[in-house]
Amino acid sequence: MPEGMSNGNSSGTGVPLVRLSNVSMVYGGVTAVAPLDLDVAAGAFLSILGPSGCGKSTLLKIIAGFADPSSGRVEIDGVDVTRIGPEKRPTNMVFQGYGLFPHMTVRQNIAFGLGIARVPAAEARRRIADVLELVQLAALADRAVDQLSGGQQQRVALARAIVMRPKVLLLDEPLAALDLKLRQAMQEELRRIHRQIGGTFVFVTHDQEEALNLSSEIVVMQAGRVEQRGTPQEIYRRPASLFVAGFVGESNRFSGRMRSGRIETAMGSFPADAKDGAEVVAILRPEAITLGPVRRADDVAVTAMIEDVVFLGERVKVVCRAEDGTAIHLRLSIEARGQLPQAGRSVTLSWRAADMIVIPESS
Ligand SMILES: Nc1ncnc2c1ncn2[C@@H]1O[C@H](COP(=O)(O)OP(=O)(O)OP(=O)(O)O)[C@@H](O)[C@H]1O
Ligand SMILES: [Mg+2]
Repeated sequence: MPEGMSNGNSSGTGVPLVRLSNVSMVYGGVTAVAPLDLDVAAGAFLSILGPSGCGKSTLLKIIAGFADPSSGRVEIDGVDVTRIGPEKRPTNMVFQGYGLFPHMTVRQNIAFGLGIARVPAAEARRRIADVLELVQLAALADRAVDQLSGGQQQRVALARAIVMRPKVLLLDEPLAALDLKLRQAMQEELRRIHRQIGGTFVFVTHDQEEALNLSSEIVVMQAGRVEQRGTPQEIYRRPASLFVAGFVGESNRFSGRMRSGRIETAMGSFPADAKDGAEVVAILRPEAITLGPVRRADDVAVTAMIEDVVFLGERVKVVCRAEDGTAIHLRLSIEARGQLPQAGRSVTLSWRAADMIVIPESS
């Protein structure tokens, strides 16, 4: 069993393992990262999630020391490392392209960093054996890296970083090149490895499902800014802006204006909590909607026509249209052998009024 990566000595003291204060990055006239603060607690699996070009890689490079921030301070384990090079920081980064030595064996690739760090041979051998077991590559240790599959190479890249026992492991879209099945398998692996070694992972992705799958916490970025930070549940259930609601998960959107404690939409009016007169958008997740009449005191309902039914295995996607023409997407779970809803039927759709997340139009 491999020994754990160091969490530093900050756990328990209340000092975060990584602390970015007022950090920004401007390339020429382009702001890649606007001044921001970010703390990462020891032991976290933090994902940085956002669309292409929002500054995710730049932020990771600032933590690793591969990019010099235009402003601000980077502290790791209570030490100011802003002006310290990447090789002297207690971090290790797994790049998207892996950057492996293709003609060297798995073992030689993993040993490389240990050699540079002058780790004694006996200890290096032990650590390599441990990490090979951790990423399940022991059987391929003496194979050249260019004779491995994409998923296996990905594991080598991970092993090569983990073997250095960084306090913070930085992962820049490490799974992006893998096909869906392999990516899902590697997500499970990463969770297991994180549990097993108890380290601190900062993981960059533009895939919302991957972020929900992996993380203890998610930071959603847009255009160099942090839009929201929270647990996967908080981000999904309480999106702070229309951007976050749209980027994470599927959602129905009903725009309207607030009047006397209700949002008035084209489809009807529903109780909602927002300022009178405000232009708002109500977000409603597809799985919050029931096909059938109201069952609870705070349920609301509309009449709609079923337009399309898509069988997805454990769930069905149903597209309905309300009388005013508003499209409503549902996700229903159905029992094995259960009947599927039928297109062309007129139905009642109901949901808890409290499940509508009301967000100002301008957010
Ligand atoms: N070395 C550089 N010189 C100039 N501009 C850069 C440089 N690196 C990044 N940028 C710009 O900074 C912005 C953020 O880039 P960054 O690579 O951090 O985005 P990202 O969120 O990682 O995107 P992706 O998901 O596509 O990898 C982009 O507009 C990019 O063009
Ligand atoms: Mg990137």
